[in-house]
Amino acid sequence: MNEHTTSAAANVLQPVQWADGAVKLLDQRLLPEETVYLTLTTPQDVWEAIRELKVRGAPAIGIAAAYGVVLGVRNYAGDAAGMAVEVRRHAEHLATSRPTAVNLFWALDRMKAKAQALADAGTVSAEALRELLAEAQRIQAEDEETNRRIGENALTLFADGMGVLTHCNAGGLATSKYGTALAPFYLALEQGIRLKVFADETRPVLQGARLTAFELHQAGVDVTLITDNMAAHVMSKGWIQAVIVGTDRVAANGDVANKIGTYGVAVLAKAHNIPFYVACPLSTIDLSTKSGADIPIEERHPDEVVRGFGRRTAPEGVAVYNPAFDVTPNHLVTAIITEKGIVRAPYEAGLRRLFEAE
Ligand code: MRU
Repeated sequence: MNEHTTSAAANVLQPVQWADGAVKLLDQRLLPEETVYLTLTTPQDVWEAIRELKVRGAPAIGIAAAYGVVLGVRNYAGDAAGMAVEVRRHAEHLATSRPTAVNLFWALDRMKAKAQALADAGTVSAEALRELLAEAQRIQAEDEETNRRIGENALTLFADGMGVLTHCNAGGLATSKYGTALAPFYLALEQGIRLKVFADETRPVLQGARLTAFELHQAGVDVTLITDNMAAHVMSKGWIQAVIVGTDRVAANGDVANKIGTYGVAVLAKAHNIPFYVACPLSTIDLSTKSGADIPIEERHPDEVVRGFGRRTAPEGVAVYNPAFDVTPNHLVTAIITEKGIVRAPYEAGLRRLFEAE
């Protein structure tokens, strides 16, 4: 509990929790119709949950994977050195669940480094296990604090009465709390700043309709759902003064990978002279990836496109291309909003400076 527990985001469902030695995970595929928490007890359960989008959103899959590692060693009987080997093995497997969001690899690297430090210190295994769980819980708790700061920084760019468009879900359901791109909406609500949010439906998996509209509406944020192909029309009417989205990976040059369709929204924003903001924690910035061309883009099953609404919506056998993400080039990004401040072009130097200040 902290000073922020009365926040507008307080009632957003938590996507991942550690309880009674297992991972309690909200099955986001079933939202908004059903609220079902699954009990995951093995790393493989977590791997499948990530792969099948039961948990999704860059920070949330990192948190889930960190707990997945803990599940892998919770009955380990050997010493801390052996435990570190096991941690590496489980982390390597969990890292194959999805390729684009760098938070997954960032969280797993943290778990591996912690396990190695415990082994180097000759920690007894029961204590090492407690410390590994504590590390996963820290990753989750830090994410909440980080997102609140992102929200505060983002809110400095918005003014009362503005219309703001978002794509996909970068909210509480994608993180430990608040979200990244949605954090300023919760803070605005708390502070009485009126923002009118437009949520893109976000084909093909509808994270905007099923998740963003759900969590913002439930919290009392003024949100209007539109289909993806309405964004240009809504912008042309003058209803949008800013776009804000989350991201799965920011390359060193400021190119940004996010949910498929984000690039199109950025092009539309440019055409209408609307600022296009990207909100993310430092754990989403990957200085080892030089540009967007180096970001692996996940391709998903064609059924997401041809059976997206519970019935077949295209002919049997038709070719389908289903990339889950696209890359928005840095020249379309007005600013990247992090917990350490707001970075504008030239991104290469600005992003590097964020880490130097660490
Ligand atoms: O395929 P998803 O639902 O995992 O994609 C999620 C996104 O693209 C989010 O915008 C991104 O992970 C940022 S979440 C704070």
